Formats: sequence, structure tokens, C-alpha cells
Amino acid sequence: MPAPELPVRVPLIDFDPGFFTSIANMRDNILLSIPAQALEQPIFSGRTLMRWHMIMEPVAIKRVLLDAVDDYPKSDVTKTLLSPAIGDSLFIAEGAHWRWQRRATAPAFAHRSVTALGPVMSRAAEQACMRIAAAGPRAIDLAEEMVSATFDVIADVTFSGDDMMDRAAVHDAIDGYITQAGRISMLDLMGAPSWVPRPGRHEAMKQLEATKTTADGAIERRQARGSCDVPDLLDLLLSAEDPKSGRTMTTSELRDNLLTFIVAGHETTAQTLAWALYLMGHDTGAQDHARAEAQATLSGRVAGAGDLASLPYIRQIIDETLRLYPAGGLLSRTARADDTLCGTKINKGDTVMIPVYALGRHRNLWDEPDSFRPERFKDRKAIDRYAYLPFGDGPRVCIGASFALQEAVIILATLLSRFRFSAVKGRTPDPKMLITLRPEGGVWMTAEPI
Ligand code: HEM
Repeated sequence: MPAPELPVRVPLIDFDPGFFTSIANMRDNILLSIPAQALEQPIFSGRTLMRWHMIMEPVAIKRVLLDAVDDYPKSDVTKTLLSPAIGDSLFIAEGAHWRWQRRATAPAFAHRSVTALGPVMSRAAEQACMRIAAAGPRAIDLAEEMVSATFDVIADVTFSGDDMMDRAAVHDAIDGYITQAGRISMLDLMGAPSWVPRPGRHEAMKQLEATKTTADGAIERRQARGSCDVPDLLDLLLSAEDPKSGRTMTTSELRDNLLTFIVAGHETTAQTLAWALYLMGHDTGAQDHARAEAQATLSGRVAGAGDLASLPYIRQIIDETLRLYPAGGLLSRTARADDTLCGTKINKGDTVMIPVYALGRHRNLWDEPDSFRPERFKDRKAIDRYAYLPFGDGPRVCIGASFALQEAVIILATLLSRFRFSAVKGRTPDPKMLITLRPEGGVWMTAEPI
């Protein structure tokens, strides 16, 4: 077998693999359903049970995400896939119901609030260093380490100080849902409602139902106890009021939103960190450069929110990682009205996708698109905003983007200042997207303390 081209990428194909392979690809790794033409063309259309279009042209993308956003709600497939887990919460709600939830949670993600969360992130970075040091010279899966670190952060931010929450059980249930139920089935594509049983989803749902009950318990305990000294995300949700009706969130709405933040907030950041560490093993020159920056800034201490401005190269590494391995590698919408995009007629009901993964590697939008070159983000103004969409854009842009970037820089800088990472030969991860883009097989590295 020929050696894979590095850094590793998804093997996109330029021919129609046929109906059954297309369906199998969607279940196994949704990115395999992106045709190689998406790396060169502005639009690519096809039909797999329903008509779909992939858009790679910045002006058309801006139309979908911003200018005509009301005509492009989240896709029916996205809703069917996620609603059993997270209900009609912020991630999938539409219209007025989305708006008031977004307004209610926005203060928790404002610059000041995110900066105030720095110590939670620094603590998680410190604990990750301790676990890595304890492994000694053994190879470890840093992807798994990063999932633990980011889960610690999100659990502290959502259910701070609740000792009765079984964090491991919550984590396992969510992970089970993503790996089992996160696979698109033929029924999803046919538009069957989410109550029609899907293979594999039943077991995952049972575990998730138990988590929902645990979360409801935590919410009720907080309601009885009153808010924390420093209000956390749950406190903010509890005090949120719909400006129109004056109503507050029910327990199930509160829980659906908390689970949304946990699901959207920890896997994505963990996978980004895991891919960044993989790239550090691939490009040891970049790793040395990043380490020099981190050590000069930190002088042995853990990184904090106040260090971000002094860590520009680490930030560029995260930006470049998100271009090559965007955790949200494919955004999808269902057209609510007829339209024309890049000269192609879009019919009401068609699925319109933005393959963020292919956009970041598009031949006409990037120089050396498959190479890892963090310096390209040195001058942010030189990057076309709609050619680089790891956090989406428009009103549905990721609410947690600055939270995630701060967390990623704090953790990566701290790790690189303390360890020299080397990739384990023959254990290259496989980019696979099930809801988020994971390094399948793990990121196996040895960590030499410095
Ligand atoms: C590197 C990490 C992250 C990446 C790559 C990422 C990516 C994205 C993307 C692409 C979207 C837009 C989806 C679409 O338009 O269909 C999104 C939305 C969202 N993200 Fe993130 N995200 C990250 C971290 C976070 C964190 C840390 C949180 C919360 C703690 C979060 C919460 C959300 C929520 C609630 C939405 C829905 C917002 C709305 O529709 O109003 N994300 N994210």
C-alpha cells in the first residue's frame, strides 16, 4: 500500500460511487460524500434520494448564511439527527424560539465572561499535563486526553460545583449517541420523522435518557439552592426570559440547552486540539517554534486568558488546524424557497451544503491548500472571510467561538511549553466525521518532559 500523503486527508473521489456506496459513506464518514470536484468548482449538485448542492463560492455562501438566511434554515437531516438528543434547543431551533434562546445565552459568551473562565481552562490544562507526565515514556492517545480536558472545562462551566453529577456517565452517554446515533441513515435521507426507529439509535437513546434524568436532577437542585456566587451557564439560562411572553425556560428546555453546550462545546474543541497535536508531530519545526513562543511567555507557569495576545503563533496553529480539519466539516440547510446560487437553480426543499472541509482546501481559494502553513494566518485581513468558515457565519455563527479559541490556545501553549511530542510511527489517524471530524484511531504520541 502506498504511504498516505501527509498531513493526512480524506480520500475524495471524482466519480459517482453508486447509490449503495454513497449511503454507506454517509453512515461511515460523511466527508466521503464530498466529491473531489468540490476542491475546484464553485458548486456541485447531485441526487441521493433527494436533490442536493454543495456550495464552495464565497459570495453564494454569504447568501446562504447571511443575506438570505431566513430561506435557509438548518437542514431537515440535521434536525432529525440531533433533536432526539438536544430537543428544540439553540443549535436547531428557528425563528423567535431560536432568537430568545440566543439572546438569553449570549452574555455567557461575551468577551468578559469568556475571559473570566480562563482559570477553569488553565486548571484543565494543568491536569492534562499531570496525566501526560504520569504516562512516562509510554505512547499515549492524546485525542482521548484532549476529550477529558475539554469535558472538564464544559462540565465546570455548565454544572459548576454539583458533586452529584456523574461526569463520566454524562460523557459516555453523549459519546455513545454521537458514535451510534450520529450516523445518517437512509430513513433520515428519506425524511422519516425522528420517532421512526433507526438502527443503533435505540441503545444510545436509552443511555441518553438516563443522562437527561441526571441533568434534570442537577437543574432542580440548582433551582432549590439558588444561583452560584459567580453565575454559570445554568444560572444564566434559569434567569432568561422570553422578551415577548415573559416566560422562562422549562426544565426540559434548560436541560436540552445544557446538553447542547456540552455536545457542541467539548468534542469540537477536543478534536481541534487533537489534530493540532497531530500536526505538531508532523511538523517538528513548527512545534519548536511554538514551544519557544510558549516558554518565553509562560516561564514555566500554566497559560491563562491574559496570555493570548503574547501567543500569536500558537493561535495561528489553531487557525490552520481548523482550516485543514474543521470539527464542523459540513454545514447543511434545507432551502425554504426557490433560489439561484452560482447560476444553478435551487428548488424549495433541496438540501444545500457548505463543505467547510473542502472550502478550506479549495484550489482557487488557497495557496498550497493541503500543506500545513500556520503563517498564512499572520495577516487575517488577507483571508477571505467566506473562504474560511470553521465556526460558520451570519446569525447562526458558533456562539462558543471565542470560548473555544481561548481554551485551545491555553491548553496547547501549556502542553508545548512542558513536553516535546513525537508521533508514533505507523499510527496515522484517519479523518472521520460523525457529527464532528475526529482523528479515528487516535493521536498516538510520546511526550518527553522538558
Ligand atoms: C473548535 C471548536 C468549535 C467549532 C469548530 C465549532 C463549530 C461550530 C459551527 C460550524 C457552528 C455553526 C453550525 C451551522 O451553521 O450549522 C456552531 C454552532 C454552535 N456552536 Fe460551536 N464550535 C466549537 C465550539 C463550541 C463551543 C465551545 C460551544 C459552547 C460552549 C459551542 C456551541 C455552539 C452552539 C450553541 C451553536 C449553535 C448556535 C446557534 O445556532 O445560534 N461551540 N459551532
